[in-house]
Amino acid sequence: MKTVDNINDLRQIVSEWRQQGLKIGFVPTMGNLHAGHISLVTEAHKHADKIVASIFINPMQFGANEDVDNYPRTMEADQQKLAAEGTDLLFTPTPEIIYPKGLDKQTFVEVPTVSEGYCGESRPGHFRGVSTIVCKLFNLVQPDIACFGLKDYQQVQVIETMVEDLSMPIKIIPVETIREESGLALSSRNGYLTEEELKIAPALSQNIQWLAKELKNGNDFIGLAKTAALYINNAGLKTDYIHVCNAKTLQPASEDDTDLVILAAAYCGKARLIDNLRFSLPAIY
Ligand code: PAF
Repeated sequence: MKTVDNINDLRQIVSEWRQQGLKIGFVPTMGNLHAGHISLVTEAHKHADKIVASIFINPMQFGANEDVDNYPRTMEADQQKLAAEGTDLLFTPTPEIIYPKGLDKQTFVEVPTVSEGYCGESRPGHFRGVSTIVCKLFNLVQPDIACFGLKDYQQVQVIETMVEDLSMPIKIIPVETIREESGLALSSRNGYLTEEELKIAPALSQNIQWLAKELKNGNDFIGLAKTAALYINNAGLKTDYIHVCNAKTLQPASEDDTDLVILAAAYCGKARLIDNLRFSLPAIY
């Protein structure tokens, strides 16, 4: 695996591959890689000949109260993991390369509707940062396909909408969440959990499961979601939100929706965990 930190080298290598008629797969990350990220590379291999990954801790997607400087940096271990999974090229730009004029003077991409509410509400500006960096990285790498983890369900919807709205010739491949045996979704944020917190953190996915099961017997979306929030709080977490939504529009679920997703976020100690579950209900006629 070759690692490059500048745009010229990245473009030159990728354009050589293109001239050879090879298909390019892309896995953008912020590093601190776990098995969930590696599964994105595994999936990308199924759809492309050459795999480019990036590690860039994107300051634009961190809020004022979120500590970008303390985000874990584990470059050497990350490089080893990506190389072991057959990644061909790793792009590791600095913020100065990506945002040479600084964040305030940077053109941005904002995706309406699906970026509003849920994590968009709890983390103002977050999805603007995500769509801007992903758009930039797409323009730099020009991949045919790109893989994103479904743990960040709303992020996947934001990126799919951006690609569609801006007519980008890139196929987005959503990849299933990898979980611990307890059900806890793998996340870089799990690294912030103490041993005690690790024991209670699975309450988030467990109560999402509980809610989906209850909804198969009755469609009181709001009432049952409130109960699930209470159960999550009783387990020692602090629910940020839990909602039942239309899986495509992310609007609150209505009676005739059959393709649904439960979106949830909860604080466990210092860590803010997110999780979701997509499921279908029989149509009501
Ligand atoms: O999911 C992430 O790690 C980030 O939001 C992404 C897509 C790499 C953009 O910085």
